Amino acid sequence: MTTLAQYLNKHSTSAAINDVITTLADVGVTISELLRKGALADIMGEAGNQNVQGEEQKKLDVIANDLLLDALAKNAHCAGVASEELDDATPANNDGSLLVLFDPLDGSSNIDINMAVGTIFSILPYLRQGHTSENSDFLQAGHQQLAAGYLLYGTSTMLALTIADNVIMFSLDPDTNDYVVIEDNVQIDADTSEYAINSSNYRYWHVPMQNYIDELIAGRTGVRGRDFNTRWVAAMVGDVHRILCRGGLFTYPFDTKDINKPGKLRLMYEANPMSLLIERAGGAATDATTRILDIEPNDIHQRVPVVLGSKNEVSYIKNLHMQHDQV
Ligand code: F6P
Repeated sequence: MTTLAQYLNKHSTSAAINDVITTLADVGVTISELLRKGALADIMGEAGNQNVQGEEQKKLDVIANDLLLDALAKNAHCAGVASEELDDATPANNDGSLLVLFDPLDGSSNIDINMAVGTIFSILPYLRQGHTSENSDFLQAGHQQLAAGYLLYGTSTMLALTIADNVIMFSLDPDTNDYVVIEDNVQIDADTSEYAINSSNYRYWHVPMQNYIDELIAGRTGVRGRDFNTRWVAAMVGDVHRILCRGGLFTYPFDTKDINKPGKLRLMYEANPMSLLIERAGGAATDATTRILDIEPNDIHQRVPVVLGSKNEVSYIKNLHMQHDQV
């Protein structure tokens, strides 16, 4: 059995990254304990405020955000944090060499129904050490991430992490609060017959995405010549975790439901960290035409269409979009 601490000591590229990952994982233990107590810990329901995206905050969104913020502010390596729940980035320790971005509680509509939720994080280099960090310091493309991962609070708590080109899965032992390696060098198959999408948005999608889903639904009677199966956790962490376990395709594509939201998911603390994990596990991630990790951000809260998972399926969707754009 290898614990997270032992793994990091042996494999990580820097003591600073080890320390920040350890802080994130420790907060994950606390969030996981709160979730296990559920309503008894008074974590259910609405907080009564909206975040910067105009979304109603759940009590646990706020609690998880505060826990992460407090812990990272005390970490000497962290120069600043950006969160889904904060309008602007918050400076931490000027001498720190790292910036941390997170979605403290992904899939919050699942909290009150006792279903899987998660915490997603991304670690970037801080390029102006010695100065107070600002929003603009965080605007780095996803390929510049030094590490990324998520905590999945499901039937058990798991940590999926990518450092030094590798994807590793850990399971939290609730008796010792140690994260233990359960799979090293996670790899996903290039082909899949399983896909995740919220089909209720069908009428708002671009034509190539509608055509793609029509093909999957036609199954063995259509051009794909085989049947496909749908799964939708309604928490990106859960869907990405399934893909890391057994392959698959996840998409929250461009839609015209709200003209101000050209995609539902956030680039910097949802799409980027998940794309790094998926690519390092041999998969692919695109906004339908451009590699997500190459998108130059202009806002810490910007949204992006997301198509990620098994490589061949992602490239099939990309080709449909490119062919459509050429007509
Ligand atoms: O806001 C992010 C998120 O909760 C993702 O985790 C999830 O994939 C998606 O939104 C769920 O969206 P919907 O409510 O449309 O099913």
